[in-house]
Amino acid sequence: MMHCSHGWLLSLAILLALSIPHSQAILGNENKIKTAVFLSPKFVLGPGSVEDKYYYDVDFPRGHIFLKSFNGEVIDEAGNPIPLHETYLHHWVVARYYQRKGTEISNREGYRKLARPDYISVRNSGICQKNSLGQYFGLGSETRKTSTHIPDPYGIEIGDSKEIPEGFEEKWMLNVHAIDTRGVEDRLGCTECRCNLYNVTEDAYGRPLRPGYVGGLRCCYDHTQCKLRQGFEGARRSLYLRYTVKWVEWDSYILPVKIYIMDITDTWKRLNNSTGLSDEHDCRVEYDVESCSINGAVDGKCIDSKKLSLTMPIGGYVVYGVAHQHSGGISSTLYREDGQVICSSKALYGDGEEAGNEAGYIVGMSTCYPRPGSVKIANGETLILESNYSSSEHHTGVMALFYILVADETPKPLISLQNLVQTHEILTLSTFIWVAALLGLVIAVIAVRYRLSSGREDGYQIVM
Ligand SMILES: *[C@@H]1O[C@H](CO)[C@@H](O)[C@H](O)[C@H]1NC(C)=O
Ligand SMILES: *[C@@H]1O[C@H](CO)[C@@H](O)[C@H](O)[C@H]1NC(C)=O
Ligand SMILES: *[C@@H]1O[C@H](CO)[C@@H](O)[C@H](O)[C@H]1NC(C)=O
Ligand SMILES: *[C@@H]1O[C@H](CO)[C@@H](O)[C@H](O)[C@H]1NC(C)=O
Repeated sequence: MMHCSHGWLLSLAILLALSIPHSQAILGNENKIKTAVFLSPKFVLGPGSVEDKYYYDVDFPRGHIFLKSFNGEVIDEAGNPIPLHETYLHHWVVARYYQRKGTEISNREGYRKLARPDYISVRNSGICQKNSLGQYFGLGSETRKTSTHIPDPYGIEIGDSKEIPEGFEEKWMLNVHAIDTRGVEDRLGCTECRCNLYNVTEDAYGRPLRPGYVGGLRCCYDHTQCKLRQGFEGARRSLYLRYTVKWVEWDSYILPVKIYIMDITDTWKRLNNSTGLSDEHDCRVEYDVESCSINGAVDGKCIDSKKLSLTMPIGGYVVYGVAHQHSGGISSTLYREDGQVICSSKALYGDGEEAGNEAGYIVGMSTCYPRPGSVKIANGETLILESNYSSSEHHTGVMALFYILVADETPKPLISLQNLVQTHEILTLSTFIWVAALLGLVIAVIAVRYRLSSGREDGYQIVM
């Protein structure tokens, strides 16, 4: 039986390219949204164990295309979704790179070892320092209920052969960090990577932890083990990240978006000669939230609120926004300097047992889809990033990232109908209404002429 389901999975692993009609995909020349479902390589987890793997050259759509969305979830060998209280998905990250043809990168090579001439990382547009947060996509526990769809007429352009250096190929890396919390003594502690629960005093590279470091990624690296309840036993099992990618073929009509990731732990400070470019940044990615029983409640509320001021070197029109937070997260907001909200992304918590609705976990983050052209960030504009966490408990290794997709251009209006330029769908509908109205007018004129010439009141019928 196990054999059977495994075979089924293998066949699933083969590109499942369906050309499905999409309600919003009424692009120029019938450019339909394509969907592919892929599986990561298999990873095996037992109670309390951790996998933090970098998979190189994973399955991904190829060619000169525009990506429209990326969604993922952890499943078992039979394809069943695994709930977060069994396997906590700390994060997954998808990064783009160029690799010299004919060379290999082993999945066992850590990300840090990739300073080599046959590997070129193709990072997003910023704004953290080199080697930090350069991914194209990446979420964690919230992945099941977070929209990643990029609205028409936008997309993330990839695979343009003119950009790929001679002798290189474009490839994709997938990093999956998962923690099995079946039978653990302290579920939140294991998911927040408390060093004492992992009995760890050195990081993955053998460097001693800095004094005062009590939790975070340095304590829950690949093959570490979180503390189990006395006597708990459970089977090791094989799991996969199943990911669904949507895209459209390249088309001159589609507008490319840039990906920016802001990080609340960035130590960037404006100097009067600042450029705002990535070499001035230091994104630490993780931080801790002290309990309000130590720090004191603010206005009777246990909220840890962090703020950061950042300059966007290059702006544009905001097409999409979303934050990434961990358990305890409430919301994260991107403001202009004058306090105007650009996007606010709120945490959605589950209230049940089943996958996608796990109580106590962030199962989704709300997203922003401003009306095209309505939210513009100026070149060099200073923005404020805010992250709020509940501080009723102490948290270690939390994160607050903010993704925005930004376009240089607004969609070109096809016909000048004020206020109807909101989506292409509406445009198409309005075009239809106008055509129908014109047709109606023509028929009415013919009918009136007929009526005038025949001189009879009931001498006509309009048949549609
Ligand atoms: C913790 O690690 C130390 C040394 O690395 C080891 O001697 C000890 O047995 C470990 N404790 C537990 C509870 O695993
Ligand atoms: C900042 O600008 C002022 C006036 O333009 C200048 O005098 C000063 O040296 C600058 N400081 C730095 C750190 O560049
Ligand atoms: C800005 O000025 C400071 C102080 O003079 C200097 O250390 C720094 O390198 C300068 N930064 C840039 C980006 O020029
Ligand atoms: C975050 O918390 C601060 C302080 O309590 C509050 O002023 C702010 O409105 C909160 N922001 C959001 C988006 O909830």
